[in-house]
Amino acid sequence: MRVLSGIQPTGRFHWGNYFGAIRQYVALQGNEQSFYFIADLHALTTVRDAGQLSQNTLDAALDLLAVGLDPAKATLFRQSDVPEVTELTWLLMTLTQMHLLEKCHAYKDKKEKGIAADAGLFTYPVLMAADILLYDSDVVPVGLDQVQHLEVTRDIAQRFNVIYGGEFLHLPNARVLDSTAKVPGTDGEKMSKSYGNTIEIFEDGKKLRKKIMSIKTDSTPVEEPKNPDTCAVFTLYRLFADEASQQTLADRYCAGGMGYGEAKQQLFEAALAYFAEARERRAWWEARPDDLRDVLIQGATRARAKGQEVLARCRGASGLGARWT
Ligand code: ADP
Ligand code: TRP
Repeated sequence: MRVLSGIQPTGRFHWGNYFGAIRQYVALQGNEQSFYFIADLHALTTVRDAGQLSQNTLDAALDLLAVGLDPAKATLFRQSDVPEVTELTWLLMTLTQMHLLEKCHAYKDKKEKGIAADAGLFTYPVLMAADILLYDSDVVPVGLDQVQHLEVTRDIAQRFNVIYGGEFLHLPNARVLDSTAKVPGTDGEKMSKSYGNTIEIFEDGKKLRKKIMSIKTDSTPVEEPKNPDTCAVFTLYRLFADEASQQTLADRYCAGGMGYGEAKQQLFEAALAYFAEARERRAWWEARPDDLRDVLIQGATRARAKGQEVLARCRGASGLGARWT
């Protein structure tokens, strides 16, 4: 089984990215083949500052290694280090129907708001399909918002196979962790960079505490009972704490006499403890930039070998045939 996923280096990773996506990468990495990449080509559609993009890409690699991606178990690489993916994108683009892309959220949302979209944003799902299909991926762990892109990927692969008459492209499946599929942000809405409500995994202690203290809660007075199930602080706490601690805090909510500040303090402590080891690992890798580069180069070399095999198959199927040079 081959597991594959990608994540865009558009900023520092937050709790939503971790619990919605990255944690699954780590859990699945023992699989025979797991490929994880930093989607720098996709990030070009939003990050327009060269220095920022390269810094984000390095930070993404550091964050992923820090939270437990192990280069001995998983193949970690930069998307743009495998140029075959852009060639496959073109092959797929020639047979992707417009209506498939017109209904994709990112493009549709922009259009509905009257914001001009680039061709890059419109064709983003085709590059994503190529990312997945280039490596004969079986399972693609992603957050709920990416499921639509997986459906598009399957449609494109099927169309390629029907048009060229063979099982050239392997159909992948999405893997979504439902229980944590929507991590709330500081305003109680879905945590996302675009809403400015994120809490970053490696936020420093002071800022972390400040952000947690700013999480929106209702105005129930301290002495009254509170409902843990409708409170963003408790929803977040559940991600970090074991069952017994969750129960203890839930009981305190229900009993009354506890202010939200106290629950937030507990969340702060739980989050710090949860990522303590990861913080140390991040510092370790940060002090070894050459080793980090080696990890990415070795990852790209392994991924590329597989990518070249699948692209050759697709070139053959389409009539382009083997490259002459
Ligand atoms: P952002 O919304 O901050 O720009 P991305 O769209 O880059 O984040 O998301 C990267 C990955 O993290 C995706 O697989 C996405 O589904 C997941 N993800 C992002 N935010 C959340 C969230 N609040 N809850 C669960 N998963 C999330
Ligand atoms: N679009 C994905 C996101 O924003 C990132 C991504 C790019 C991806 N290519 C992929 C995810 C291939 C899974 C597989 O989160």
